[in-house]
Amino acid sequence: MRYLTFALTKGRLAEQTLEELDRIGITCEEMKDKKTRRLIFVNEDLKLKFFLAKGPDVPTYVEYGAADIGVSGKDILMEENRSIYEVLDLKFGRCRMCVAGPPEAENLLKHHELIRVASKYPRIVRDYIHNKKHPKVDIIKLNGSIELAPVVGLSDVIVDIVETGSTLRENGLVVLEEICPLSARMVVNHVSMRMEADRIRRIINALRESMEKRQG
Ligand code: PRP
Repeated sequence: MRYLTFALTKGRLAEQTLEELDRIGITCEEMKDKKTRRLIFVNEDLKLKFFLAKGPDVPTYVEYGAADIGVSGKDILMEENRSIYEVLDLKFGRCRMCVAGPPEAENLLKHHELIRVASKYPRIVRDYIHNKKHPKVDIIKLNGSIELAPVVGLSDVIVDIVETGSTLRENGLVVLEEICPLSARMVVNHVSMRMEADRIRRIINALRESMEKRQG
């Protein structure tokens, strides 16, 4: 039997994914050692491999077949737009993709004026703001702490993830428009889905059943 390889998103998403997999009997003891610098972990009994990657790289590993299965946020999947199957909503890592800014920016949006949008997600901005709503938009790509941009005058608004809303609140910003809800999704490589259909389907079904059972 060949190994099935999972690409997980480093950080909280990987921890939650491992808890979910644990519930269906898929464990990886090697990964529980927090101090390890190893990049790839193996469960020899189940013939599974796991590795941790930066969020936006997970769909890339899956598209090229370096991983058979991945777990990514829906935001990343939308932004990366890779050719992979999205097979299961894991329902954790829930948050919302929003347009946010200082309350005054609402007028700019309403009147379809030229706006500057800072975001880690230029494709999502293009697709949503540009094509559908606000034709005049200048996109500024940033890599993090996006809330800073309108505060220091780099942009009028931002497009970013809102979870609890406290980063916005603490910086005097508000949600101006909601783009879509987000959560963690399981994705599968096209060829793996065909070649390893039984094993992969068993994993998807077990996860689905275990999630349904817990949610009553
Ligand atoms: C994310 C997101 C917001 C924040 C939202 O940033 O980009 O900044 O979390 O969470 P909240 O609504 O609960 O305040 P993250 O911490 O992932 O880091 P980043 O700023 O580097 O993107």
